[in-house]
Amino acid sequence: MPANKEGDGGWKAFLWNSEKKEFLGRTGGSWFKIFIFYVIFYGCLAGIFIGTIQAMLMTLSNYKPTYQDRVAPPGLSHTPRSDKSEISYILGEEDSYRDYTKAMKELLEPYKDEKQVDDSKYDDCGNAPGKYIERGDLESDTGVRKACRFKRSWLGDCSGLEDTSFGFKAGKPCLIVKLNRIVNFRPRPPKTNTSLPVVAGGKIPQFLIPVYCSSKKEEDADKLREVKYFGLGQGYPLQYYPYYGKLLHPHYLQPLVGIQFTNISINQELRVECKVYGENIDYSDKDRYQGRFDLKIMIKS
Ligand SMILES: *[C@@H]1O[C@H](CO)[C@@H](O)[C@H](O)[C@H]1NC(C)=O
Ligand SMILES: *[C@@H]1O[C@H](CO)[C@@H](O)[C@H](O)[C@H]1NC(C)=O
Repeated sequence: MPANKEGDGGWKAFLWNSEKKEFLGRTGGSWFKIFIFYVIFYGCLAGIFIGTIQAMLMTLSNYKPTYQDRVAPPGLSHTPRSDKSEISYILGEEDSYRDYTKAMKELLEPYKDEKQVDDSKYDDCGNAPGKYIERGDLESDTGVRKACRFKRSWLGDCSGLEDTSFGFKAGKPCLIVKLNRIVNFRPRPPKTNTSLPVVAGGKIPQFLIPVYCSSKKEEDADKLREVKYFGLGQGYPLQYYPYYGKLLHPHYLQPLVGIQFTNISINQELRVECKVYGENIDYSDKDRYQGRFDLKIMIKS
């Protein structure tokens, strides 16, 4: 480029050469051609990009995850939860457990009766565990599916309806436990009673994925003592499955289980483990929440 070093206005001439009518060494026509070239060039790139994405999206279903082999089996999660998977509070000090009960109230908000009145969105699915409720194929055109009602009152002492402290005030804290949603997943109850814990009493539950909690260390069982379970049955009733996903099942209510430690020792740190049992429910050493979780509970006086 003609960076003329002789004249003191060399760089100015480079910027705008009035003799040749050149801006930065090129004429207007030349700049225009370059501009057009890049518009077309990037236009084509964008076209190829959008085309590829569109072609890929066409092969995906709106409703069904394409690759689902890595998500099943489901995780088990609890509310309240804390980073250190520890629930600890001081008996008689509301401030020390307010965050816990607040999280439970928030979780139960959509489970209020007045939120489930609309018959076009909710179905009654019985007061006892029952069979899977099929609501058509994921890809069929039946559109948005109804959801089963889940009565908050089923959670009894863990419903927060009568005792707004969810048992925390009396030193009988509750947990609300849910099985994570997986689109199109049908959890299967255990087939044999041998995989179930002794407290199940050798009975195989009907139409239910049972959940049981126990102390992680066997010798602590006499410190955990009684555990009460609330919900529809002692676990996750099959009529709430399968779940059709956010688009087709926007009002879906996950079945919940309230678990209450009614006579837990105070001033003792206790490790509690809760597990769900089912034929297609697995546990993993790597994932602490797959089909189970454990939690430290400490009530101080
Ligand atoms: C398991 O079920 C069988 C009958 O199916 C019964 O004989 C056995 O006692 C049960 N096991 C336990 C631990 O109760
Ligand atoms: C709580 O556990 C203690 C010690 O095992 C027992 O003596 C007491 O009766 C239990 N209380 C209730 C209400 O079950």
